[in-house]
Amino acid sequence: MENVYHIPALLEPTLDGLNIQPGGVYVDLTFGGGGHSRAIMQRLGENGRLYSFDQDIEAYENRIDDARWTFVHSNFRHLRNWMDYYGVEQVDGILADLGVSFHHFDSVERGFSFRFAAPLDMRLNQQQQRTAADMLREMDEEALARVLYLYGELKDGRRLAARICRSRASRPIETTDQLVSVVLRGGETPEALPTGTPIEVLPAQKKDLARLFQALRIELNDELGALREMLCAARDMLRPGGRIAILTYHSLEDRLVKNFLRSGNLEGKVEKDFYGNVLSPFRVLEKGRVADEEEVERNPRSRSAKLRVAEKQE
Ligand SMILES: C[S@@+](CC[C@H](N)C(=O)[O-])C[C@H]1O[C@@H](n2cnc3c(N)ncnc32)[C@H](O)[C@@H]1O
Repeated sequence: MENVYHIPALLEPTLDGLNIQPGGVYVDLTFGGGGHSRAIMQRLGENGRLYSFDQDIEAYENRIDDARWTFVHSNFRHLRNWMDYYGVEQVDGILADLGVSFHHFDSVERGFSFRFAAPLDMRLNQQQQRTAADMLREMDEEALARVLYLYGELKDGRRLAARICRSRASRPIETTDQLVSVVLRGGETPEALPTGTPIEVLPAQKKDLARLFQALRIELNDELGALREMLCAARDMLRPGGRIAILTYHSLEDRLVKNFLRSGNLEGKVEKDFYGNVLSPFRVLEKGRVADEEEVERNPRSRSAKLRVAEKQE
């Protein structure tokens, strides 16, 4: 799978869920390798338009040479501002395929993977100043424990946070290999290994390390904050009959999306009319579809994807 920028998960059901109108205006909020965007373009007619966002400028390597397509190098939390800039008031469909692409894990020097030694960077937007190493230097133990527990679902988040804080007192934790060593073994922060050195871990340790790295990434890039802002903007920008399709990879983001699509608000508070009918700006069409066995076999990373689709009500 080396050198593949990304393989999109649940491609067909996502496209079907969006119900692409040939002359419609669409937004792909997470361009990445462009797999979903290209499939949307194939269904668009001459007058259709697609705006594809990505906060990571490396995604622009996959640009689509087509006058109907526009790349927006921005965090999708600024969806409304950018659409105002392009003079677009309402859109027919919005897609978000959250998180990171294969490319991020495969780009060793960006520090998303616990498999190789690298600086602890983890920024999705390279224009951002603060890296994961800065975050680990600055965060207090209590906040760190909370992040590991909530975003990493690590039951022993408190113990890991304590190890990190003890070790950083001897020497800052600046690389992926130093972090792995500290959480697995405790003690003083070791010397950093040269970038690209494989990190030896036992198979049984991989799941928790993946969760630890995921938790730090989510916190550093404020992924849930961006998702909340984007959901509200998307609700307000969708035309009646327009569709929103969201692919999530983490239980917290999935719960947020599920409650939002059911209720139309971030609190997930369902309003009802006098007769008990649910009053929501959305009609939910797809309630957490997952990849089938054949797709997981072909693309193991699709295993954790969950698709939710809703239609904006008249
Ligand atoms: C799972 S990949 C998308 C893959 C894409 N659907 C494809 O077919 O290749 C997620 C992408 O969204 C980008 N991304 C994540 N959060 C973002 C945000 N808040 N704003 C803009 N882009 C974001 C990441 O940089 C990454 O390229």
